[in-house]
Amino acid sequence: MKLPTIFKIPSYNDERGSMSFIERDNSIIDFDIKRIYYLYNIPKGRTRGDHAHKKLQQLMIAISGSIEIILDDGKKKESFLLSSPDEALYVPSGYYRHLKFTKDAICLVIASEKYDESDYIRNYDDFIKWKSLQN
Ligand code: TYD
Repeated sequence: MKLPTIFKIPSYNDERGSMSFIERDNSIIDFDIKRIYYLYNIPKGRTRGDHAHKKLQQLMIAISGSIEIILDDGKKKESFLLSSPDEALYVPSGYYRHLKFTKDAICLVIASEKYDESDYIRNYDDFIKWKSLQN
């Protein structure tokens, strides 16, 4: 099973600034991209997430600011900090997540599936039950 991992995104830096790039098969991403969305204008102190996905895999990037992502596999929680646009967190399916944003942070999400509400588990107890049924 694939585990959550922070990757360095290949980047090009010169006196004009920086550019980071992600392509399928450049080892950063190994799923077909079906959707991109981004979270921004998050009010101070508000959090996002608090759900898991049955199938969806994601790559999360803090395009601006810093984002703490707490991932829970049903047994243990692990915290990941994204603080630079040249790094990405791979989030496999089956993790309950909680996202905390610094002021003005923007989270770009690259997703393996289109939006599908039936892929969400929005209740933590339901998540634990669902996990116990997985092998
Ligand atoms: P939600 O999953 O609650 O946001 P977050 O993951 O940040 O906690 O999504 C908020 C609303 O937006 C919800 O009604 C579903 C809808 N939505 C879409 O229509 N398409 C999408 O791609 C996403 C991510 C959400």
